[in-house]
Amino acid sequence: MQRFLDNLKVCNIIPNISRINLVNELKDKIRETKVEVIPHKFFYYDLECSYNWIKLMGDTTNYPLAYQTRNMLQINFERIINIIKEEGSPHFDLLSLGVGDGYDDLRMLESIRKILFGDDTSRNKITYYPVDISYDLINNALNLFIDRIPGFVNKRMEIIILNSDFEKLSAYNSIINRYSRNPKLITLLGSTLGNFYELTLMRAIQSLMNNDDYLLIGVDCCYENQSIDKIIKKNSESTYGLQFLLGPLRSLDTIQIEGDTIHIPSMAEDQITTNTSDQPLTSLPPSEVATIIHSINLGNHKILLTMSHKYKIQPLIDFFRTLGLTLVEKFIPSHSENCNYCLFLLKFDNSTKSDYEEQSLIETVRGIIDKDPSNIDKEKITNKVDEISRYLKNPSTPIDQRNQAIDKLKSIQSNGIVNHDDLAEILKIFRSRQ
Ligand SMILES: C[S@@+](CC[C@H](N)C(=O)[O-])C[C@H]1O[C@@H](n2cnc3c(N)ncnc32)[C@H](O)[C@@H]1O
Repeated sequence: MQRFLDNLKVCNIIPNISRINLVNELKDKIRETKVEVIPHKFFYYDLECSYNWIKLMGDTTNYPLAYQTRNMLQINFERIINIIKEEGSPHFDLLSLGVGDGYDDLRMLESIRKILFGDDTSRNKITYYPVDISYDLINNALNLFIDRIPGFVNKRMEIIILNSDFEKLSAYNSIINRYSRNPKLITLLGSTLGNFYELTLMRAIQSLMNNDDYLLIGVDCCYENQSIDKIIKKNSESTYGLQFLLGPLRSLDTIQIEGDTIHIPSMAEDQITTNTSDQPLTSLPPSEVATIIHSINLGNHKILLTMSHKYKIQPLIDFFRTLGLTLVEKFIPSHSENCNYCLFLLKFDNSTKSDYEEQSLIETVRGIIDKDPSNIDKEKITNKVDEISRYLKNPSTPIDQRNQAIDKLKSIQSNGIVNHDDLAEILKIFRSRQ
């Protein structure tokens, strides 16, 4: 921290988040033939990458998503505070998953100050947990708050920095329980969910959630009959976008892959291609998600740089439900606003939860179907799997039918082969008592 804060604690669970460790991890990932995309954290972890993100978010003309996400939060966050207040929590702590350029969190803290502390003369405080792989981004955000809301930062906030990887969140549970005075509002904004395989990230987040906590997720949605190409075009004009995409590769002067040496050209922007993807890199039914992929050809290697999912609204809410998260309220921009960014306020409701393991079994089966080049009936088979998934998600499905189906899915998983007959047999179990 450039300026010392009394109310600051830093918790770093990853031993030595050092540039050299991360660079080595990235080299290993690229070497592995199975890796499809560079893990998202590598786009932010070092100073140059963090700087690229801040510049991109500042380019509101050529990257309208930046402006739209800000605007949606600005318009709706006071309402979100009031909902939580009305449901019985006079104060809440804020745990921000990914501070980015700091402006989302500044907006939220400003609204919390106004609504929850406006005429409060008590000594109440909130705990603010910035969680991020990038210490530079956390540092930048805290300096922004000290400039804009110094009194609030010093008198009303306890700050626990969690400089960590989202995938290691469960390791922080005891620290968070020690410092939390209030229920938490956990935020995952800026479409971050869409850069991940959703189930993995959601499981990590849920490991932090108690029953009275809330989760606010902001993602890009894709409306019926809306062209994905148009969204891509509108948001790909910024030169900072290209620099951001090349950030992780630029930090490696040379990559050694299976004996080949690949030199990263200094001007590689032209080689980046942007496409929609037909690969199911999502935990939702692939037909309900549009995925934009940025890739680059280096020598004989094609490296997938990032993926970004755009969701249909109802299937996304259904997906949250299967994880035991029910919708408290959704915030959808009107079509005239020409904006795709939506906010979902969620809470735990275990009665809606279907078993995680069932969900991941279904994902494994989908993965097997997709990797099988000989399967000419992919679409029909995938439809059957979707149908099975719907039965499993439905809380009223009897437990004995569920168990029989799970056993059969497990045998598909261990054989690594999916065929019509196996799936028809599973469906017969469900349909027999309809
Ligand atoms: C898409 S940005 C969104 C940030 C912010 N909400 C905004 O809209 O500007 C993603 C943020 O998550 C952080 N991040 C990405 N992957 C991460 C990971 N695996 N672990 C920890 N932080 C990560 C990045 O450093 C960045 O701050």
